[in-house]
Parts: sequence; structure tokens; C-alpha cells
Amino acid sequence: MDCVPSIDGAWIQRRLEELAHISALTDRLWRPSYTPQEEQARCLLESWFVQAGLSPRRDAAGNLYGRTGGTGRVTLVGSHMDTVKGAGAYDGTAGILCGLAALQALLAQYGPPHTPVELVSMVEEEGSRFSDASFWGSRSILGQADPALLSCRDEEGITLARAMTDAGYSPSRLPEARRDDLARYFEVHIEQGPILEHRGVQLGIVDTITGLGTLEAEITGRADHAGTTPMDLRLDALQGAARLILQLPDLARSFRNATVTAGSFQVFPGSANVVPGRVSILVDYRAPDPRDLEQLGRKIRQAAHSLETEGFGVVTQPRMSVPPARLDKALGHLLEQCAQELGCSSMHMISGAGHDCQLFAGQVPSALLFLPCRGGRSHCPEEYAAPEDLARAARVLAAALYRLAWQHP
Ligand code: GLV
Ligand code: MN
Ligand code: MN
Repeated sequence: MDCVPSIDGAWIQRRLEELAHISALTDRLWRPSYTPQEEQARCLLESWFVQAGLSPRRDAAGNLYGRTGGTGRVTLVGSHMDTVKGAGAYDGTAGILCGLAALQALLAQYGPPHTPVELVSMVEEEGSRFSDASFWGSRSILGQADPALLSCRDEEGITLARAMTDAGYSPSRLPEARRDDLARYFEVHIEQGPILEHRGVQLGIVDTITGLGTLEAEITGRADHAGTTPMDLRLDALQGAARLILQLPDLARSFRNATVTAGSFQVFPGSANVVPGRVSILVDYRAPDPRDLEQLGRKIRQAAHSLETEGFGVVTQPRMSVPPARLDKALGHLLEQCAQELGCSSMHMISGAGHDCQLFAGQVPSALLFLPCRGGRSHCPEEYAAPEDLARAARVLAAALYRLAWQHP
């Protein structure tokens, strides 16, 4: 495919590293939404959008767009700029930078397209600041941002509404972020798992993105003196919670491609010399089949409530749920064809990670393209993708965009 300009993966990687220096923590990367660090990252991205020839704008949620010329319905390309705590430099931003490199190269070689392409850098996909408000940026674009979530709080008790206001965005104007002019959505993302590397395949075409739910389980026992209360006269909430957690891997294994993770714990009162009186756990569970997802959630709740027979108080509460998404076959086929014509190997796969793409898939044809990351490591500082892999994904994206927006009026 001679029509596709060459792309410099080292250029992409340098910018990812520059962005990764913008963190709310001194020793690790964490870029939570609606913070000065996020704003700093947004301003840097905005300057790169302008250099690439894109017209920038921000919407009412804080999503940053860069637009080419052209008229008609929009092809949107994007990913997220927020990160988990202790993140790597690639999750989310690699997709934005691959999109930027693709558009910069196409604009330089061919000028504006017939139909517009927009690049978007979205807020709060991870829910690492507001765990109930994951996908807040994409939800806002799709008109699915539930105003009730504006009152959810971060770890410091700051509400989402306050955080948005302090960052210069008006929660009451959120409906203005909604887009009804989208033709399709593309996302490039690191795989965040080991399959591509393991099989020696260069790109992944995602067919299905797993569904996910989070469940809060609060287990109440009885706080007592750690030295004077005999072992068989205690109701130790953490012991109960630990028994629940030990059951989770087997629950996950009873469904195809399902996972269960208890990654967040709070122990009360949280003192070495007090028998834990109460424990709050957040359980993340995922499955690509909607029925499996529903049943898995039910089984986790049942396992938690079975502790009641031992005398514990148990309250479970669903916190967040996103159904599995089937991605667009025609767009997937287009990516596969472009990869083949550019001499890249590709395979179809399932995404076990959540992505903004799964929200878009409910409303417009959507596609997700994976590139390998070293050792499959992600959500950790070791996350790494090689420049040639970044360049390959950006070129395949550029080929697909060229066909859709430049070639066909
Ligand atoms: C998003 O990164 C997720 O938790 O899958
Ligand atoms: Mn992530
Ligand atoms: Mn991500």
C-alpha cells in the first residue's frame, strides 16, 4: 500500500515518555482526572494537536478534540489520558499518540480529507479517582453520563461535580458534550496481556470486549481486644473476608475467559492490636458473555452472603457495570485487510480489559486495534511497547482512515 505514509515509532515513544513525566505522585505515574497534572497533560497534547494541523477544542466534560477539515459525519479516533495509580506510560495515551501520528502523516501527505476525522483524548476512563464514574469521558460524548454520579466522591471526599468545577468545567453543561454526528469510532491500544507477544503476532483485531462489573462487599464482625479475646471467641471480619477472597479464583474458573479480582480493601478500625470489626472490599469481575457476567456477579454475592451463616453481617452493593461489547465486523475486516496489505500479521482476539471503545460500540460501528506490549505487563511501571510496534499500529490505522475519509467522499 504505497498510499500510506511512513510513521516514526520513536517520535510516538518520545511523546509518551514526555507525557508520563506529568504525574500527581513524585515516585510513580498517576494522572487522575480534573487535576492540575491532567490539565498540564491536556495542554501538552493540545500543542501537539495544533502542530499536527488539527483544530483543537475541549468539550464540557474536559475531553480534548483535534479536528481535520472535511464535511459530513465524523470518524472519531481516540483513547484516554487518565491513568491508574502506579501506571505505565502506554495505557490510553499510546492510542492517542498513534492516532496523532497517523493523522499528522496523512494531513502532511494528502491535505484535508473529504469527511472529517477527529482525534479525542478522553477523561476518567480508569475510574482511578472516581471509581463509580469510569468511562466518564466517553459516557459524556454518548449522552450516558448519569448526573447522579456527580455526587460520587474521591478518596479525599471531593465530589465529581466539585472536581469538574475546580478544573474549569461546568457540570450543568455536561449534556453539551454529547455527539450525534459520529459515523464510527477507532481505538488503538496496547494489548495489556501476553497473547500477541507469545504467539509472535504483530497486531490484534478485537472482536469482543469483555463485560465488567464491580461489587462492594462489606463484612461486619466484632472489634475486640487482640490480646485478651480467645481465638475461638472472635468474629474477625478480615478472616471472613479472606475466606471469601480465597473462593474467587475458582468462581472465575467456572466461566469461560472470566476473571475476578479483589484489588481494594479497607479494614476497620485498622489497628494491629484490634480484631478487625469491619472490612470493605471492592471486587472486579469480568466475562465476555453477558449471561456469564450476570451469573458470575450472582455467585460472588452468594459467596459473600454465605458468611452470614457464621455470624457475620454482609452487605453487598453493585457499584458499576458495563456489558460486553461486540465490535463492528466490517471495520475489523478493514483493519485486517490494511494490516495484510502492509505486510503485518494479525489475529482476532477478545479484550479482557475495559476500553472507551465498548461504550461507543453500543451506538456507532467501532473497532479496537491492539499492539503487543512487553511481557504483557500493564497497569504497572514496567509497561512498554516497542517503537516499531507503535509505528505498525499507527500505519494500519492511517491506512484505514485514508480509505474511509480521504479516498471516499
Ligand atoms: C481498564 O484499564 C480496565 O480496568 O480494564
Ligand atoms: Mn487501564
Ligand atoms: Mn486503557
